Amino acid sequence: MPVRYAIIGAGAVSDYHHVPGIRLDKRSELVAICDPNEQLLQQRVKDWGISKITTKYEDIANDPDIDAVIIATPNFTHHEIVLACAKGGKHMMCEKPLGLNFAQSAEMYRAARDNNLKHMTAFTYRFAPSMRYLRHLVKTGALGDIRHFRSQRFLDWPETSWGWRQYKHLAGAGDLFDMTIHRIDFAMDLCGPIDSICGAVATFCPRDKTADGKPCEPSNVDDWSALIGRFSNGAVGVWEGTTLAKGHHNNGFGWEWAEINGSEGSAVYRLTEPNTILMGKYGGTMETVPVPREFLVIPGSPRNPDEGNPSTVFRYDLVYELTSAIVEDRPAIPGFDHGAIAQGVADAVLESAEKKTWVDVNHQLG
Ligand SMILES: NC(=O)c1ccc[n+]([C@@H]2O[C@H](COP(=O)([O-])OP(=O)(O)OC[C@H]3O[C@@H](n4cnc5c(N)ncnc54)[C@H](O)[C@@H]3O)[C@@H](O)[C@H]2O)c1
Repeated sequence: MPVRYAIIGAGAVSDYHHVPGIRLDKRSELVAICDPNEQLLQQRVKDWGISKITTKYEDIANDPDIDAVIIATPNFTHHEIVLACAKGGKHMMCEKPLGLNFAQSAEMYRAARDNNLKHMTAFTYRFAPSMRYLRHLVKTGALGDIRHFRSQRFLDWPETSWGWRQYKHLAGAGDLFDMTIHRIDFAMDLCGPIDSICGAVATFCPRDKTADGKPCEPSNVDDWSALIGRFSNGAVGVWEGTTLAKGHHNNGFGWEWAEINGSEGSAVYRLTEPNTILMGKYGGTMETVPVPREFLVIPGSPRNPDEGNPSTVFRYDLVYELTSAIVEDRPAIPGFDHGAIAQGVADAVLESAEKKTWVDVNHQLG
């Protein structure tokens, strides 16, 4: 029998990533949708062809005919929904940031672990072919000893309201929790744990109007975030993210660059060219290298890498990973532990910015 999934939070990311991901794999089936927005629910009944709907996540958590959930709701709801679904025995994928802070995220990890459930944080960019190949090069020593990590994520977003995303009590933070946290996560996947950081955040736009010109409460979160970090292995990293990089819209994909400099060579991942990397060796020039075919999808995925926009379609592999973990009875990667640890680093950025000092990162998940 296929793994029976429910979507909790039927908004943008569920439609863009998760439902196509469930549909691709014969081992998974979408059976229910939960969202408090009744109009959206009716729309999704049409879009996704699913008739089991509810406005209450408790109905999903307690439904014996659901095996796994994908939680894609505003950030402030992740904690309570994960705890309820863990109690109900559901395997879970939860969107990033896992919680509003490290304490919440660590508790979510423990709830999943202590109930013997598969758990996964939706750190999408780990699944990009170029990122997977970069990881392979790092782990096999092809770049030598890793010294520097560098990440830039520049978006050109409108200066109008971001909805729930622009309020601290609903989102936790702005660009830092929305965008930079992905880059903190994949940096640790490449280079290992981060011990200490020096961070900064800034807010430039009031965002006191909606896109259709209606007044709203101004934003109280960052729209630029940056950090310098020291990894346990001695490497150093530099990250910068902004939603205000005019001219970097690029059909919504923005500008993304993540680079590793090792003692033997350098390599670069770019979201906009996810089927190639840039690579160079000592004394040479950075050149385009195709990602080998075996890295274009995660092993076993039925997805055809030649179909669709390469910057979009790797996102469908996330559900494949969770389904595989359930079917093969092994941990899903990245788990809630990875989500919590990245959150610990992101929390340290806010603390560092407030105190104007370096901060040690808390990795203790309990
Ligand atoms: N991994 C990625 O690349 C990626 C991309 C986009 C968004 N996200 C994350 O996904 C989450 C959702 O983002 P989005 O852009 O889809 O937001 P969205 O606002 O489009 O959708 C969120 C949906 O959740 C619903 N909702 C609110 N409270 C709920 C509750 N208690 N139970 C069930 N549903 C509830 C809302 O009605 C809405 O339809 C956020 O945590 C965001 O950070 C991740």
